[in-house]
Amino acid sequence: MNNKHNAFGFSTRAIHHGYDPKDHHGALVPPIYLSATFAFPTVEYGAACFAGEANGHFYTRISNPTLALLEARMASLENGEAAVAFSSGMGAIAATFWTLLRPGDEVIVGQTVYGCTFALLHHGIGEFGIKVRHVDLTDLAALQAAISPATRMIYCETPANPNLQLVDIIAVAALAHQHGDITVVVDNTYCTPYLQRPLDLGADVVVHSATKYLSGHGDITAGIAVSSQALAQRIRLQGLKDLTGAVMSPQDAALLMRGLKTLALRMDRHCSNAQALAEALQAHPAVESVTYPGLRCFPQYALAQQQMKMSGGMIAFELKGGIDTGRRFMNALKVFTRAVSLGDAESLAQHPASMTHSTYTPEQRAHHGISEGLVRLSVGLEDVADLLADVQQALAKCTRALPRPPVLASQSVR
Ligand SMILES: Cc1ncc(COP(=O)(O)O)c(C=O)c1O
Repeated sequence: MNNKHNAFGFSTRAIHHGYDPKDHHGALVPPIYLSATFAFPTVEYGAACFAGEANGHFYTRISNPTLALLEARMASLENGEAAVAFSSGMGAIAATFWTLLRPGDEVIVGQTVYGCTFALLHHGIGEFGIKVRHVDLTDLAALQAAISPATRMIYCETPANPNLQLVDIIAVAALAHQHGDITVVVDNTYCTPYLQRPLDLGADVVVHSATKYLSGHGDITAGIAVSSQALAQRIRLQGLKDLTGAVMSPQDAALLMRGLKTLALRMDRHCSNAQALAEALQAHPAVESVTYPGLRCFPQYALAQQQMKMSGGMIAFELKGGIDTGRRFMNALKVFTRAVSLGDAESLAQHPASMTHSTYTPEQRAHHGISEGLVRLSVGLEDVADLLADVQQALAKCTRALPRPPVLASQSVR
């Protein structure tokens, strides 16, 4: 693997890292190795591969040249030593949990996480003797109090899906590591390494739904875990090979590498479009509240400025009139598409309480800070003027539908 590009900037590495055309007949774009299995020159060499004494590829569920290139590139972008590719974000998260947690262990989880991660915790590992504790990770005293000798992992999303709450990675990782054997795992899906690099801030493992911004075109499901070489090897040999088998296909790895080439450009545009939309929403009389890390009113604005290069492409907001008005708003959108997922070129709008976070009960949503009226926007790459016009026309329909304030007696005489 050619790592001569390590010293270059983010986009140069996203385009070139780990690949030299001269090793591949001059092919500018890396070839896709579709082979499920790989020939051994001798029985002895095959045995050495299985024993971990030789580095050759032997079966694609464990390693493959196309996946290895993608993994090297992702490790470079996240400033990790190694990465493991999966067929979905949930594959990466499940493999990380199953590898690092055992019955009797405890995992501390931030207050709000993606709905299927919540389901995996409570209906998956939680039912196999692993204790799951949700803690408000913005409260370091609460975190300190929750850590016990059985705590093996702290897991969080920052920003969290869907309410965008942030976790101070430096502070949480420092506290975790004072207690010895606790692995800090950060889901970096909302930011990508272009906006935030959790390993540089003290985290031990970064996981991604690469279905989102990393691939960027909504045409694959994919996941990645990045960490030290030793942890990645455990996640590969236990979590990927034996426990989930959630291997990424080489074709998807090629599509993901194509997406990575434009990641920085796309993130710049997602962020500038989202900033403009968040400001427009905030100024509109039909809007009750807007949550976006780039607004000065965002409760963790200072942390966002410190931890993230820019404020991201995701917005959460509430309309006056609650979810009924929210439904009218979403049904009136013309450029935004009503769909789950995020990070695509197309702008998307969805309702977490009935869609991505319907795995929580209503009581759990209330407890975990996901309000029933919250609308989530994934701001895409279209012209910002068209996005602003779309949101304005949909909001105008909501304003017309809002109940009129009662007419005061002094006004009614005129
Ligand atoms: C923050 C976050 N993590 C993980 C996942 C799961 O990823 P995937 O859908 O690729 O399995 C998602 C999916 O929406 C997500 O939003």
